[in-house]
Amino acid sequence: MFYPEDTIEEVRMRNDIVDVISGYVKLQKKGSNYFGLCPFHNEKSPSFSVSPQKQMYYCFGCGAGGNAITFVMEYENYTFLEAVKLLADRAGIRLPEAEDSPEERQKSHKRSRILEANKLAANYFYYQLRHPQGKAGYEYFKNRALSDDTIRRFGLGYANKASNDLYQYLKSKGYEDSLLKETGLVTIEERGAYDKFWNRVMFPIMDVNSRVVGFGGRVMGSGEPKYLNSPETLVFDKSRNLYGLNYARTSRENYILLCEGYMDVIAMHQAGFTHAVASLGTAFTPQHALLLKRYTQQVVLTYDSDGAGVKAALRAIPILKEAGIFTKVLSMKPYKDPDEFVKNMGADAFRERIAQAQNSFLFEVDVLKRDFQLDDPEQKTKFYHGVAEKLLEFGEALERDNFIHAVSQAQGIPYEDLRRLVNQLGARLIGRPRSAAYGGRREAGKKKEKEDGIRKPQRLLLTWLIERPVLFDKIDGIIGVDDFIEPLYRQVAEMVFAGHKQGKVNPAEILNHFIQDEEQYKEVAALFHARLEESLDSGGQNKAFSEVVYRVKKNSLDYASRNAADIGELQKIIREQAALKTLSITID
Ligand code: UTP
Ligand code: MN
Repeated sequence: MFYPEDTIEEVRMRNDIVDVISGYVKLQKKGSNYFGLCPFHNEKSPSFSVSPQKQMYYCFGCGAGGNAITFVMEYENYTFLEAVKLLADRAGIRLPEAEDSPEERQKSHKRSRILEANKLAANYFYYQLRHPQGKAGYEYFKNRALSDDTIRRFGLGYANKASNDLYQYLKSKGYEDSLLKETGLVTIEERGAYDKFWNRVMFPIMDVNSRVVGFGGRVMGSGEPKYLNSPETLVFDKSRNLYGLNYARTSRENYILLCEGYMDVIAMHQAGFTHAVASLGTAFTPQHALLLKRYTQQVVLTYDSDGAGVKAALRAIPILKEAGIFTKVLSMKPYKDPDEFVKNMGADAFRERIAQAQNSFLFEVDVLKRDFQLDDPEQKTKFYHGVAEKLLEFGEALERDNFIHAVSQAQGIPYEDLRRLVNQLGARLIGRPRSAAYGGRREAGKKKEKEDGIRKPQRLLLTWLIERPVLFDKIDGIIGVDDFIEPLYRQVAEMVFAGHKQGKVNPAEILNHFIQDEEQYKEVAALFHARLEESLDSGGQNKAFSEVVYRVKKNSLDYASRNAADIGELQKIIREQAALKTLSITID
């Protein structure tokens, strides 16, 4: 980048947010705002609102919020630059080219050429499959019970036996060797160029926007490797891509099925489970979990039922948990994977298995049990201790107790005994510098609370001022920009106060200043949408507002007194602190 700020602001202003979002989400007018089903999480009743006055959107369900530019970033999974470009195009604004650095321009040019070449390759493979030279591939898919519809939907194809026909084809389309090398589709040596994929059925891998970022190719029959995959390239980051997510993200189910392989996803979709995705060979990563978190709160793991699948599940569960995703584990037995299961048992039986999926913690306990011979009293005791230690992962007493109940039932351990064991073990672990003991978490909680006591009043005060500009008069002479001691809020306050002086606070414009840092813009967007206590009567509102003003001022004075440069300054602060005690503010 960089575009000048006024260019970005022009792009934003010329794209009315209601128009932009209407292109993606069905909106209905209610009062002065528009409502629809939130595209960023699964929901059945609309809590996604768009405000034409503020030129902002906000979801009361999941907290997603922002302006037209962030909407496109989030929805299309675009970078800031890509979103600005799309909106500029949409509004017929010509963006200045000059300010990209040459390296960046080159890189983004290369990226789009690799994507083009990938797309051509996918079409080429698809074409082969549909012609005599691809008969073997087509029959392979038919033997695996895929319909023509499914083949089309997933763009499945065939790489034939010729050793460099794809290379020749792409050359004829004008791609030079150096670029083709970077697609990972060919290897170029001194002796010549060879296609990477050869005599295999082909699975194009698409990103969330259905752009082809790589390929998997399977041998037809047995052979090594079973699946050959594209290497990582400028456009393919394996730890950030989930196969099938381009379709799954539009499913209206409120959970996602996470499987291991290409064929599992495809078979699931064909059977009507269009909310299935796979992490494809590479281990499931925290980036995968965050990607999923954008679309769902719950995952049902449908990994293979063999040892490797269980191992992979045990690795994925804590990663999902860390991302705040609730996880269940589905049993495929006696079949190996979802593909085999639906083929043999049908979709209804699979739906039943989904309903019976096991809480991931109880699954972990079941797996743990396999390490012990329970008819041996010593081993049994060890198992119980293992279970108790695991139960200490729950920092929250009520939650822990719920799981003690569930485990005692599932494993036939008397509840009281298990509870006592957990408490004993907990008492022993406290004081150890290990977070498994719940003491550690409690400390972290306290620190956060304190921080919130500082930040929250500032946040609320900004929200009040944005919602009700008349309140500026009430705080005149009491609160200034400097009283916002949290740096991010201070920046916002500067703009809000300045906007007020000029007669209008412009939320969507203010947000633009923070747009390049995802965490920041989310926090700022939330400011413009936090709901005030509308339900309070005027007495209650008065109290709430003056409390917030008091808190902000008090925190600011406390902070100043800790940082006072000399005694004179300190005395002044102390006088202000005394005066604060008699502060009285009313809204009306
Ligand atoms: P599986 O061996 O379980 O294969 O690998 P599968 O999905 O059941 O495939 P089919 O049904 O035999 O066709 C699961 C996933 O691991 C990756 C692939 O993404 C595969 O879908 N994998 C497996 C590889 O990348 N390379 C391999 O050689 C094997
Ligand atoms: Mn399989």
